[in-house]
Amino acid sequence: MKINKKLVAITALLFVFIIFLSQCINTPAKPDPRGTAFAPEASCRQCHQAVYDSAMASAHFFASANATATNVLGNFNAGHNSFIYDSITRVVMEKRDSGLYQVLYKNNQATEARRFDIVFGSRHAQTSLYWINDVTYELPVSFYRSVQNWGTSPGFSAAVPRFNRLIGMDCFECHSNYISHKKQDVATGNYFAANAAAAEAFDKNSLVTGIGCQRCHGPAAKHVAFHEENPGKKTPAFLVSSKTLNRQQQLDQCAVCHSGNDQRKIQSRFMFRPGDVLANYFLPAVVADSANQFDVHGNQFNLLKQSACFLQTSSITCSTCHDPHGNANLPVAVYSQKCMGCHSPTAGNFCTVNPAAGTRLQDNCIDCHMPKEASAAISFQLSGNAVNSSYILRSHRIGIYRAEAAKK
Ligand code: HEC
Ligand code: HEC
Ligand code: HEC
Ligand code: HEC
Ligand code: HEC
Ligand code: HEC
Ligand code: HEC
Repeated sequence: MKINKKLVAITALLFVFIIFLSQCINTPAKPDPRGTAFAPEASCRQCHQAVYDSAMASAHFFASANATATNVLGNFNAGHNSFIYDSITRVVMEKRDSGLYQVLYKNNQATEARRFDIVFGSRHAQTSLYWINDVTYELPVSFYRSVQNWGTSPGFSAAVPRFNRLIGMDCFECHSNYISHKKQDVATGNYFAANAAAAEAFDKNSLVTGIGCQRCHGPAAKHVAFHEENPGKKTPAFLVSSKTLNRQQQLDQCAVCHSGNDQRKIQSRFMFRPGDVLANYFLPAVVADSANQFDVHGNQFNLLKQSACFLQTSSITCSTCHDPHGNANLPVAVYSQKCMGCHSPTAGNFCTVNPAAGTRLQDNCIDCHMPKEASAAISFQLSGNAVNSSYILRSHRIGIYRAEAAKK
């Protein structure tokens, strides 16, 4: 009896101790580097589970991430993990105890080893960055899905490896939730790292990877607090509802990152909130739109804007065809249904082409009217191959491409 009492007491004590420990683990979450107006992203799930789960599996969410053993793409096994520059120079992708590395070998001597610290991209290609102190650099070799292989990082030479390409704020503004510069040099207004002229120094701890809910919807801490306290209220509070945005505002919500990177910036893309317009972020283009040849990479907005479908309707936005919480790799037949929301035989504005025997126009408007094109901005080279490989994307200029159509 006595022993039993003791046991109960010990168990009770243990229980209290465990509760205490778990509290310690659960409590002070790292404050959000973006400020207290932002809620922990995981808190959205309790009320928006379907949207949350979809967005967390989307390309946006993986637009950047801290590199781990599982999210780095590409083959690290012997025989598949080398990029050969010349008979004595190669870069080898290696698994080591302290992480994944790109290692430069000269005459079989390792002369430089840089770790995969941050990955960018997952759908078509993945490039990686490494840190030296507060500065990020791009690794010389990237992974390309189209060839399921390693190739030169865009703009890198296949003859001479280099590890010194600086990565600045711009990449993070389109590929992450947030990062801040370390400190401003009062005299110049620039963000120089201590020993590297022109290198932007970041506050490493401020990086919030991925493109998450509040990057598109704006800070939502008040929204979360309000709805947690008022579970009966079914109209969204403390949040800009997309239903109140006009078409241009809806488009700009995407175009802030999908209209190229050649405009001169007025303020950081991180400041963009739903309802803002791009005119407050970029100076007007120097060249008139019609003269511009927009690249298929990263400029879906300006290409779409040149289409008759866009110019002659007032309704088309990115959401006409894309779920902002999902991915783009839907079957072409699904996208063709979106076309037929406006173009149908009954509406009298349907396709005027005679389909080849055995094919149905309905199944694939896309390959003829939004053909795949090689990016002029991005190409890469494979190991031991001096030829440029193309980086292929859809043209968002919906139109008539007779040459493409003839191939079908
Ligand atoms: C305690 C519940 C709750 C939490 C937590 C919550 N929301 Fe909401 N949210 C609502 C309710 C209720 C609505 C209105 C009904 C609806 O649209 O589902 C709403 C609507 C929305 C809408 C749609 C607005 C519109 O009409 O276009 C967005 C966007 C949104 N929430 C984003 C977020 C984000 C981002 C988070 C996490 C930071 C979050 N919510 C967390 C309850 C919540
Ligand atoms: C903060 C910048 C940013 C914003 C805002 C943004 N995007 Fe993106 N988007 C990206 C980046 C970066 C990628 C490439 C991600 C990747 O594949 O790693 C991308 C990829 C995509 C893709 C391709 C997904 C796939 O499966 O390959 C689609 C479609 C897309 N975005 C649509 C939209 C739409 C629609 C909006 C507006 C509602 C939007 N984006 C807003 C930066 C952004
Ligand atoms: C790439 C930008 C982007 C991201 C990231 C994003 N949203 Fe949205 N979200 C939108 C847009 C645009 C709409 C309006 C959709 C429309 O017009 O059809 C929307 C609509 C919504 C809605 C209301 C309509 C619906 O589908 O239920 C909710 C709720 C919502 N988002 C919550 C979230 C949450 C939670 C996250 C993060 C897990 C998130 N969003 C991430 C752009 C985004
Ligand atoms: C203006 C916004 C913007 C900037 C700046 C930007 N990107 Fe992107 N990036 C995108 C968008 C949008 C996509 C996806 C679709 C596409 O290629 O059109 C993308 C795609 C990528 C991809 C392929 C991702 C995939 O999953 O297919 C990589 C890798 C990448 N970017 C790396 C970078 C790096 C490195 C930088 C800086 C040197 C950079 N990006 C700067 C918007 C941007
Ligand atoms: C929101 C409605 C809408 C959607 C969605 C839409 N279109 Fe259009 N499209 C139009 C209108 C309006 C015109 C101009 C008048 C016309 O030619 O019927 C047009 C014109 C065209 C033209 C003639 C282009 C030219 O340069 O002469 C083609 C081809 C076309 N659309 C194909 C498509 C395809 C393919 C899709 C799907 C990827 C699509 N459209 C989606 C409304 C739309
Ligand atoms: C008329 C339909 C339509 C509209 C509107 C549309 N897209 Fe797309 N988008 C597509 C199709 C089709 C694909 C190709 C999907 C595939 O092949 O996997 C695509 C692919 C993409 C991709 C992936 C890169 C690629 O080329 O495969 C991105 C990024 C993208 N769209 C962004 C946008 C943005 C941003 C907008 C608004 C400015 C937009 N889209 C408007 C139909 C559309
Ligand atoms: C085999 C390739 C091919 C396919 C598939 C195809 N089109 Fe076309 N389409 C063309 C060509 C080529 C033209 C130009 C015909 C001409 O003017 O001689 C055209 C013309 C059009 C036009 C302009 C009609 C006009 O007013 O002159 C529209 C709209 C259109 N297509 C929509 C669609 C839609 C929607 C689909 C899917 C249901 C589709 N097309 C499928 C090749 C194709």
